[in-house]
Amino acid sequence: MEAIQNIVEIKTWSALCHRRGRRIGFVPTMGALHEGHLSLVRLAKQFSDHVAVSIFVNPLQFSAQEDLAQYPQDLRSDFALLEELDIDVVFVPNPREIFPPGFQTKVGVSELSKNLCGKFRPHHFEGVATIVLKLFHWVSPDIAVFGQKDYQQCRVIEQMVQDLHLDTSILRGPIVREKDGLAMSSRNRYLNESERECAAHLYRALTLAKHLFEQGERQSDVFIHAVASYIRENMPSGQIQYIQICDALTLEDVVTIHKKCVLAVALFLGKARLIDNIELDP
Ligand code: PAF
Repeated sequence: MEAIQNIVEIKTWSALCHRRGRRIGFVPTMGALHEGHLSLVRLAKQFSDHVAVSIFVNPLQFSAQEDLAQYPQDLRSDFALLEELDIDVVFVPNPREIFPPGFQTKVGVSELSKNLCGKFRPHHFEGVATIVLKLFHWVSPDIAVFGQKDYQQCRVIEQMVQDLHLDTSILRGPIVREKDGLAMSSRNRYLNESERECAAHLYRALTLAKHLFEQGERQSDVFIHAVASYIRENMPSGQIQYIQICDALTLEDVVTIHKKCVLAVALFLGKARLIDNIELDP
């Protein structure tokens, strides 16, 4: 596994792979890797000849009030985990090279960034789209893999790729859960022991909604009410940010479920902001 830290080198590596007719798979990350990330890497390996993983905590996607300074970083453990998966390149760019003084160009995916997390994190998806576009520009991946836990992020990237006619296919990796159902996330490290135990209720709330759906319920307000009541009862210290049912493609709110939707939840538990979702597909 080769560690690359600058743009010229990653472009050279990518050009060489392409000259040899090899397909590049790419998994962009912010590090603090866990089994969820590793599952994305395995998926990338299945669909490509060479895999690159980037590790970069992107300041552009954090607001001033958010956890950029505390965001967990553990390069040593990240490298060890990636070595085991036998990937080709880990790209750890230098923030000063990525965002040099005077940097001012950003990309926005306007409509898909408005709802859900976008309502509460107004510049977040612009930050995500901008860094992902830059990374795609240097790595030139044939495929790139993103986790479905960040459902809105997946849609934003898919739309950006479509709108800008990029030559990268986006694959979604399914949500990887702990034994008790908690979706894996680097931010789960912020949970203390009792919060961690309580956090499992978030998935139970989604499972409850899934059962209602399987029994034929189609009204969004019924799901939202059921999920909110479950969370209030079982996660009393949780602060719900949103519970929404949205069209799986447009991410607009849906009143009655006629086609594929996503039920998405964001809540704060102690210092951690947890997000999770399930698809409801009639
Ligand atoms: O999902 C993430 O870890 C980040 O948003 C990403 C895609 C690496 C961009 O910084």
